Amino acid sequence: MATTLLAIESSCDDTSAAIIREGKILSNIVSSQHQHVLLGGVVPEIASRAHVEMILPVVEKALSDSQVTTSDLDAIAITSSPGLLGSLHVGVTFAKSMALALDIPLIEVNHMDAHIMANLIGEDKPTFPFLCLTVSGGHTQISIVHSPLDIEIIGRTIDDAAGEAFDKSGKLLGLPYPAGPEIDRWAQLGKPVYTFPKPQIVALDFSFSGLKTSFLYFLRDRLAEDPSFIEHKKADLCASLQHTITDILMQKLEKAATETGIKNIALAGGVAANSALRSLLKEKGAEHNWEIFIPAMQYCTDNAAMIGIQGYYKMHAGLYADQTLEASPK
Ligand code: KG4
Ligand code: ZN
Repeated sequence: MATTLLAIESSCDDTSAAIIREGKILSNIVSSQHQHVLLGGVVPEIASRAHVEMILPVVEKALSDSQVTTSDLDAIAITSSPGLLGSLHVGVTFAKSMALALDIPLIEVNHMDAHIMANLIGEDKPTFPFLCLTVSGGHTQISIVHSPLDIEIIGRTIDDAAGEAFDKSGKLLGLPYPAGPEIDRWAQLGKPVYTFPKPQIVALDFSFSGLKTSFLYFLRDRLAEDPSFIEHKKADLCASLQHTITDILMQKLEKAATETGIKNIALAGGVAANSALRSLLKEKGAEHNWEIFIPAMQYCTDNAAMIGIQGYYKMHAGLYADQTLEASPK
């Protein structure tokens, strides 16, 4: 008998629900909160209130789009960490209540592991082990994925995440939140003519806070000479920033591939939607004879389908949570 899962994601500013049957996605509904655009970042209090408002309609739409009823559900997979505590709490409480009412089990999913699982959606899947560069608004890590339930992190950021580097630098340029996609768009109109120092971090770890600071001082000095500098050079500034960030990411990924000898290389997380990073990875793949895996755009940014895929593997391994499950920001 095929198993049917409801998956729910509410760790940051997207409320999402998906229906997964035997590892196949039947529906994936994402409601993004636009309240944060003009506020320059996600405001936790506003985010959790918006989840409260949207979670029921989003779950109902995921069910109706897939023509599944609550009585068809075998389990509920829910993101319990990491993320904003208030946002996670809404999803976890909703999932616990629904599981209790339907008398079905809960499955606890880690949001970062789920981002990696986006690579296991569809026909063209990497074989194990594969290396994954997971780049989101809150995290940046390189992992060896031995299996869906055995993920070994071998490098991580020691300060800001790659997404934060995009968002915070973009804010300095006056771009709305999240600035990552805006920088991507502007960069296509410019050239990477400005250079910024790259961090000298040993091993496979990353650092992005220095870039943000040097970008701030660079802008301050240029604006003192020409108050319209940003306005006139926005495209080149975005192209230069994007070039620096993707270069930092790629250097570590190349180092990880050399050290581990793994040639199956995947991308994951919101920043994996970046067009320059996607094409740079394809270029490097051709150069190093890597097999490249990049999730479809809608599975890079936050979504419940990826939660459902991780939930599916956990369900088949008998890894269930119970009503003591709690949200955890880390
Ligand atoms: O994975 P995600 O949707 O949420 C978190 O788990 O954080 O990632 C959001 C991050 C934001 O920092 C956003 O600016 C970045 O992904 N992002 C991009 C692009 N699309 C989203 N960064 C660069 N280029 C993009 N096209
Ligand atoms: Zn995410």
